[in-house]
Amino acid sequence: MSSVIIINGSPRKDGNTAKMCRAFAEGVKSQLQDATVETVNLYDFDFKGCRSCFACKLKGSKSYGHCSVKDPIMPVLEKAAQADILVLGSPIFLMDVSAQMKAFLERLIFPFATYEAGYKTIAPKRCDVVTIYTMNVPKEMFPEAVIANIESFIGHVFNQPNRICAFNTYQFSDYSKYAVEVFDEESKRKYRDDMFPVELESAFTLGMKMAENIR
Ligand SMILES: Cc1cc2nc3c(=O)[nH]c(=O)nc-3n(C[C@H](O)[C@H](O)[C@H](O)COP(=O)(O)O)c2cc1C
Repeated sequence: MSSVIIINGSPRKDGNTAKMCRAFAEGVKSQLQDATVETVNLYDFDFKGCRSCFACKLKGSKSYGHCSVKDPIMPVLEKAAQADILVLGSPIFLMDVSAQMKAFLERLIFPFATYEAGYKTIAPKRCDVVTIYTMNVPKEMFPEAVIANIESFIGHVFNQPNRICAFNTYQFSDYSKYAVEVFDEESKRKYRDDMFPVELESAFTLGMKMAENIR
């Protein structure tokens, strides 16, 4: 049976990122009713990024190619590496992925990216990857260089990610309660009403398309 794991790297379980992730999941489910589609909210897990113990690089050891830190995120790392489609959703925080997503990626990617000749990679499979980003800024201000660097690491060990984004997101449920002078609430609301459904649709469509690849 095909398996899809969705990693929500936003602290909000019903925020913009979670909604984009859900739309992708619905797209997959519309094509593959029997696929296992599991969503994991990273902020529910108590874990840290790579500790540089290098157990994953120790010659001839059992831990070679595996993160040996036994903590609550370990089963998620194992599932992610075995999935047919791995979805990595993150809000843009300080022009990067969220800290929790970064920590997760350090733990997931580094053990599979060896220092052997030619930087050989040893992930159990080259799964399909989808990256989902949501952010306050419009498309022109997307932090392309930072995200392209992260995605090149992901693509080094798995398949190169298919990226989808939601821009100019509506951040607060009630803008009037917050000190927000730099954004015009009305234009934000208009974008949310007109364009967010289109962005959700693109997530759904990608889910449908990628389901075809793992059928
Ligand atoms: C700590 C923090 C940092 C942020 N930094 C950025 C940023 O650098 N660029 C940006 O466009 N949006 C930034 N945002 C806004 C979020 O990326 C945006 O509202 C996103 O859609 C939130 O996703 P969520 O609804 O899933 O929580 C930031 C938000 C927070 C809370």
